[in-house]
Amino acid sequence: MSEQATRPPFVPGLAGVIAAQSRVGFVDGENGILEYRGIRIEKLAERSTFEETAYLLLYGKLPKRDELRGFEESLKSNREVRPELLEMIAAFPRDGHPMAALQTAVAALGLYYPRTGATDVNERIVSAHRIIAQIATLLAAIARRRQGLEPVTPRNDLPHAANFLWMLNGEEPAAILARTLDVAMVLHAEHTQNASTFTCRVVSSTEADPYASVSAALGSLGGPLHGGANERVLDMLEEIGDAAKAKNWFLDALEKKKKIMGLGHRVYHVKDPRAFALQKLAVEVFEELGSTELYDIAVEVEKIAAEKLGPKGIFPNVDFFSGTVYLKMGIERALFTPIFGIARVAGYLGHYLEQMEDNRIFRPRQEYLGPHDAPYVPLGER
Ligand code: COA
Repeated sequence: MSEQATRPPFVPGLAGVIAAQSRVGFVDGENGILEYRGIRIEKLAERSTFEETAYLLLYGKLPKRDELRGFEESLKSNREVRPELLEMIAAFPRDGHPMAALQTAVAALGLYYPRTGATDVNERIVSAHRIIAQIATLLAAIARRRQGLEPVTPRNDLPHAANFLWMLNGEEPAAILARTLDVAMVLHAEHTQNASTFTCRVVSSTEADPYASVSAALGSLGGPLHGGANERVLDMLEEIGDAAKAKNWFLDALEKKKKIMGLGHRVYHVKDPRAFALQKLAVEVFEELGSTELYDIAVEVEKIAAEKLGPKGIFPNVDFFSGTVYLKMGIERALFTPIFGIARVAGYLGHYLEQMEDNRIFRPRQEYLGPHDAPYVPLGER
């Protein structure tokens, strides 16, 4: 049989192509199901913490009490970053996007732990703990640098999300804010073979170290087609400006064939289960701290969207409500995607460990469309 006949077809964007076998996460887009290691996301959002969820993603099982305590202690003892990294962040341009700064800082972290993780199983785990712990410290320092403020030293008496808010603002967060960020991080921690997780697996497959793998994944997450939609939902809600105007704005936008930000998903054709959980969280935050016009606008947009786009299987995705919640928490817009990143890193590292257990370097083929045997025309004759 000719090579042409046996060659698999080219699939743009690898849509639907199975590029990995994994036990880390599971998505059923028709029925709105997302599971981490077989456990439904709703249960984790309700009952777990980011630390426990990260353990689940890394180790494949829920920790026993002493295992959880050990993991939490390990993260705490890894929170402080080397002073040289803080000096490097201080030298970054203040107005650079924090996503680029975070990607750079994680790559730089690898400079201090050269080649760790690739071949030794224990080193891989040590690196995974270090990255999950230190990426939060790095992002807080980057955020404060943007405000011209000094970094805040991490505290060891606070859970991961609460400590991040402490390092961000220099004050202990209210319990509702700490819990809200914790749940949002659980909801963002894993989502199977999305572009950034796939990037992480591809880089890992070369036996590059986990710092390089996670840094590359963050570069992928920063793109507007992937992690950036939550910022754009807020732009849209601000443009609408008033809940009473939401319906007309929406109908006008549909008429003009505009994409409504925060709606629709490549995998989900029902409301994203994470959007349900985030909305529940939003309601709790707004009940305690007072609602905002932007949330009221979002609710109006969702109503009219259900009527007009629901029949096409287009519903709110994870980004639809997250921005309104973060904004209410006093978090600036440019940090939304990097905060997504410091949560998703748990998923990246779960996939990294899995990839390394049974690794084969990724090396797909291409369909060559160019000429053959082309002449080399000397410079003077071109
Ligand atoms: N608003 C209005 N119409 C939408 C829509 C949206 N947010 N999302 C999809 N559609 C419509 C398309 O116009 C298209 O209509 P048509 O068949 O009449 O041409 C149809 O639904 C299919 O859309 P398509 O873009 O091919 O779906 P996709 O699976 O390639 O894209 C997204 C998925 C997420 C990229 C897309 O829904 C989108 O751009 N959403 C807004 C951005 C966003 O929130 N991204 C974050 C995702 S987590």
